[in-house]
Amino acid sequence: MKIAILPGDGIGTEIVAEAIKVLNVLDLKLETEFALAGGVAYAATNHPLPEATLKLAKEADAVLFGAVGDWRYDQLDRPLRPEQAILGLRMNLGLFANLRPAICYEQLVGASSLKPELISGLDILIIRDATGDVYFGQPRGRRTAADGHFPGAEEGFDTMRYSRPEVERIAHVAFQAARKRNGRVTSVDKANVLETSQFWRDIMAEVSKDYPDVELDHMYVDNAAMQLVKAPKKFDVIVTGNMFGDILSDEAAMLTGSIGMLPSASLNAGNQGLYEPSHGSAPDIAGKGIANPLATILSAAMMLRFSLNQAAAANRIESAVRDVLASGLRTADIYSEGTTKVGTCAMGDAVVAAITRNASTG
Ligand code: IPM
Ligand code: MG
Repeated sequence: MKIAILPGDGIGTEIVAEAIKVLNVLDLKLETEFALAGGVAYAATNHPLPEATLKLAKEADAVLFGAVGDWRYDQLDRPLRPEQAILGLRMNLGLFANLRPAICYEQLVGASSLKPELISGLDILIIRDATGDVYFGQPRGRRTAADGHFPGAEEGFDTMRYSRPEVERIAHVAFQAARKRNGRVTSVDKANVLETSQFWRDIMAEVSKDYPDVELDHMYVDNAAMQLVKAPKKFDVIVTGNMFGDILSDEAAMLTGSIGMLPSASLNAGNQGLYEPSHGSAPDIAGKGIANPLATILSAAMMLRFSLNQAAAANRIESAVRDVLASGLRTADIYSEGTTKVGTCAMGDAVVAAITRNASTG
């Protein structure tokens, strides 16, 4: 099994190093190969997603990704910015199904800005289409307006669009995921305003007929944003488009108070996947050894489960993470009084130790 490792920018290197430590203690036959992506790739090769990186990612069974983004490159033309590495990988590998769980760990209930009773036991899964929508829709660009409020004025424009097969395939992912969970899908759109959204909604309803055991409801995105802070536990699976999913998944992640804990997976039709923490490259704390590596470690667990068929190993990582939290260790982002603050490396070591300990106690 071959894994492409792309640490990327900012804290990426530090957190990915801890995930590799954890993978190494599991005695799996994993072949790993590193490549550059994001700002570091731009600095070395003048491109955020070099050919060699893309080739490696395509050949690998899975990609373990850190984070990209670096303010030093924000002035570059858009195709050269660090973010293009992740967008290019999603597009070139066809990673349309972006799975973003938002789980509240019992020990971290206090880290949320919401009342404990609202989020205790929270477990929702956002399934975001990641290769369509206004993110990639053509045409886009700048031009002179032919009509609108100011004909003749300069304007910027993008195109929101979804084709039937794109909506159908993400719908199937959502209904199948719900079957393994609590059997409920909420499809989020803006069908009261957008043609694309009405089309999305109609197809969701059509596909749901194949899943009579799963309950489907539809919700406008503004209401969904509100319900997420009002009664988040009412959700099970949320399925939505690229743009709404980008926004709602950050909101859902923060409900748990600890975006540093949340992994994500992006899968293509062949179950090849890219695994990355839900958080970004956090350049402000890069190199300080204080970042939380748990989201990346848990992303490695998702990788074992979804792309490498190693569910038992994935479970071992996840229970080790729970044990470490129970023992009171916390990185700065999830620290609270009465717990023990540790750095990135110590947190990784603690997960490794818990895995070893659990193996010896059977
Ligand atoms: C995410 C990020 C990306 C996105 C950026 C880095 C392009 O915000 O993975 O949610 O918008 O998809
Ligand atoms: Mg985002």
